[in-house]
Amino acid sequence: MPFARTELHALLARRAAILAPMDGVSDAVFRRLCRTVGAELCVTEFVNVGSLLRGCRTSRRKMTLAPDDRPTAIQIYGGNPDELAEAARVAESAEPAFLDVNCGCWVPRIMARGGGAGWLREPRAMVDMAARIVAGTELPVTVKTRIGYGPESHMPIVDLARRLEDAGVAALTIHCRTAMARHEGPADWEWARKAREVVTIPVIVNGDVRSATDVRDALDRTGCAAAMIGRAAIDHPWVFREARSLLADGVMLAPPAPDERLALARTHLRWNVEARGERPGVFATRRHLRGYLRGLPDAAARWQELIRADRLDDCLTLLGSASERDAA
Ligand SMILES: Cc1cc2nc3c(=O)[nH]c(=O)nc-3n(C[C@H](O)[C@H](O)[C@H](O)COP(=O)(O)O)c2cc1C
Repeated sequence: MPFARTELHALLARRAAILAPMDGVSDAVFRRLCRTVGAELCVTEFVNVGSLLRGCRTSRRKMTLAPDDRPTAIQIYGGNPDELAEAARVAESAEPAFLDVNCGCWVPRIMARGGGAGWLREPRAMVDMAARIVAGTELPVTVKTRIGYGPESHMPIVDLARRLEDAGVAALTIHCRTAMARHEGPADWEWARKAREVVTIPVIVNGDVRSATDVRDALDRTGCAAAMIGRAAIDHPWVFREARSLLADGVMLAPPAPDERLALARTHLRWNVEARGERPGVFATRRHLRGYLRGLPDAAARWQELIRADRLDDCLTLLGSASERDAA
């Protein structure tokens, strides 16, 4: 069910660690997996509003949420305010927790059409677009953006945060880099602090939050409500459980033991194969496996064998515990 705005604020106030929207990564299977290891809130891969409104099956699929896939927000992107507002209404039927608007993607073909971080070139238009979406949907609307387009000396995010709050946006995620920086150079969390100080809505800090201690430090340094984790979760989804333990109880959990790492890898593979079919499921899991194996004594050898295997059974055998492998 969609959140009321107050419910969203209550969840974020618990200093949640959130799975970031990542195209090709944060799909239904990975969201489910991250939930099993403590993710409190997930955001879908971005959905192109033009394709969605033309009835594209992939866009529809990305927007479909299973009954146990909650709370999850749907993220949309595009450069046309009419289409974005219309897509927001379509998204309502999927009953996401809230709707997130992507104003941060640096990919040139997306920015060229005014979408993603292209909105940062015209902050006034971005605010008008956000107000329009807010006015046309029952869902709480959030915006995920960056600190600026680049290379401004003073980033527009502080003023923008204030104006987005006035436009009715329920929360704001700030990826603390410029669009021109893409994913390079360190994220500067200081801008999230500055933006947070001028608004009453929750601000979610994002960028280079790679571990439980990073979550704690990012929240302590910025005063933000919650932290969003992207790339670190690809290799180490246990980061959500570790962050919860550190924030709630002050306890730094030990890293997952080898058997747990292998069990999660096997689960991820099985779920991906169920969802996509054998070869695509195996390929989709590969980008995660190297991280899952990290720290295992024979990680390098297993990895070399895994990248040559495209059948589920072979992968499961390679991901067996030492005793299971001996028995196979
Ligand atoms: C493979 C990949 C796909 C991404 N796709 C999206 C997306 O669909 N929507 C979005 O808002 N950001 C997307 N991002 C950006 C992340 O959500 C996040 O803002 C960025 O990776 C910085 O956070 P991190 O340092 O924790 O990875 C993507 C990032 C990666 C690495």
